[in-house]
Amino acid sequence: MYSEKVMDYFMNPRNMGEIENANGVGLVGNAKCGDIMKLYLDIDDATGIIRDAKFKTFGCGAAVATSSISTEMVIGKTIHEALDITNRSVTEALDGLPPLKIHCSLLAEEAIRSALWDYAQKKGIKIEGLQAPESTDHHHHLNDEE
Ligand code: FES
Repeated sequence: MYSEKVMDYFMNPRNMGEIENANGVGLVGNAKCGDIMKLYLDIDDATGIIRDAKFKTFGCGAAVATSSISTEMVIGKTIHEALDITNRSVTEALDGLPPLKIHCSLLAEEAIRSALWDYAQKKGIKIEGLQAPESTDHHHHLNDEE
């Protein structure tokens, strides 16, 4: 069963939408189910602090809930702190997910890394501990399979 927190973040998602002038945008897909998450970050260049985050997720309830809470978790954090957010910490923040739904929380972790990668590419910087996300090609991949 879903925790109350999961239900709450699914029914009343925080930070849903997009940031027009986002300087880091991540798009990731779950190859298994085809669900997609897009994450927009507004990162302060001088301090590296994430000022704002918004998301759009076309996916299941668990994906929406994990996307939403992950935006709350990254806001106010530095790039390096945001890199420490994992699908496990996102799941824990929601008081857990049913075992079959754990894979849904991977979208949030991957979207954060993908958006930070996009930011680094745009600024021509290297972020320590961050590699090119595998999911860069997922979009094509998903289209190819359809
Ligand atoms: Fe696709 Fe949950 S079933 S992300």
